[in-house]
Amino acid sequence: MASMQVTEPVQLRPYNTLSLPGTAARFLEITTPQQLTAADLQQATRFILGGGSNLVLTGDYAGSVLRIAIPGKHLLKEDAEAWYVEAGAGENWHDFVQWTLAQGWPGLENLSLIPGTVGAAPIQNIGAYGLEVADRLHTVHAWDFEKSAWLTVDREGCRFGYRDSLFKQSGWHLSGRLAIVSVVFRLPKRWQANCAYADIANELATRAIRQPGPRDIADAVIAVRRRKLPDPVVLPNAGSFFHNPVVDRTQADALRAAHPGLPTYAQADGRVKLAAGWLIEQAGWKGKALGPVGMYEKQALVLVNHGGATGADVQRTMAAVQAAVRERFAVDLTPEPIFL
Ligand code: FAD
Ligand code: EPU
Repeated sequence: MASMQVTEPVQLRPYNTLSLPGTAARFLEITTPQQLTAADLQQATRFILGGGSNLVLTGDYAGSVLRIAIPGKHLLKEDAEAWYVEAGAGENWHDFVQWTLAQGWPGLENLSLIPGTVGAAPIQNIGAYGLEVADRLHTVHAWDFEKSAWLTVDREGCRFGYRDSLFKQSGWHLSGRLAIVSVVFRLPKRWQANCAYADIANELATRAIRQPGPRDIADAVIAVRRRKLPDPVVLPNAGSFFHNPVVDRTQADALRAAHPGLPTYAQADGRVKLAAGWLIEQAGWKGKALGPVGMYEKQALVLVNHGGATGADVQRTMAAVQAAVRERFAVDLTPEPIFL
């Protein structure tokens, strides 16, 4: 099938939530899986784009940008234990989550209001408020450009970790080797409220909800997120700009002794996750900017474009924040978004 394509350079600013400028030499909107099999795409230098909400555009891109806009969502099957729901990679993540709740298939409510598409969710294993997509993902269906073949990856095969997956470990998220076309989620019928995260527990307490249902949790998550995180339409951003660093116990103990206020989270493997937002705030960067790019005044982990920034401006502020945290705490911050 012929693909809809534009041969003139296309401005990508509307396609990334940091609102950074840069053109793509070639831009294709992919609305059906079959479009991906077109002969001319197999050898092309490619970048697979979803909603651009985890992206830093560093300049013009000489290759082909394939924007995945494949729609569709349906109940694939149901057994005694679970519903299996499949969604096209181009579906808006938040809308999909709200739709599952409306159908009476809970389980994704903690991940409400995360921007972007269904197809990007497995790439960094999106997570929030005590849940990761890895906890509910069943299979990923993708087109493998290198083998010119369809590929199915199950949950084990995705090798999920904190903001990590096979797709990142292999570098395929940068090389454009795979385009995810749909994702199947397994939503267990035995539902349990997951509201231990302090922000959510407090929000439910404020609302005097003692036995929350899935919709209550989604509403609490949405309210907390609206309070803490800037809306990219109003203040361009890409969510958390750095990972929360995970360090060994010895380093965590030394940091805790020197800085008793530091929030830390024990990990299953014995290591300790540190709150990057706290480190950045203590290093003096909360609400501070260098040129048009700064760290958000209400959440220091979120880098924001105050207007007219380029990728180079983002990289300057990023380097300054990393240097400040390294100098104060001897901790290295790794950026979360993908750089193109
Ligand atoms: P893009 O930014 O377009 O792409 C991201 C990566 O995925 C790229 O490498 C791209 O090549 C690849 N990719 C995208 N689609 C496909 C596909 N179909 N096939 C193969 N590769 C693909 N993230 C969290 O984990 N938790 C949060 O709480 C959270 N909060 C956020 C809040 C805000 C305000 C913002 C702006 C972002 C937040 N994020 C969060 C980050 C972002 O929402 C997620 O990373 C999201 O999954 C990105 O989706 P996207 O479609 O915009 O991906
Ligand atoms: N904190 C500060 N100052 C700040 C920001 C945070 O002291 O300016 C402290 C908070 O008080 C809290 C701790 O740091 O004690 C953690 O803050 P918060 O609960 O806001 O979460 P986070 O660690 O900053 C992570 C994810 C978010 C996710 C939330 C909720 C990462 C990199 N970020 O943020 O994901 O929504 O938890 O689960 O893991 C994203 O990945 O883009 C993202 C937004």
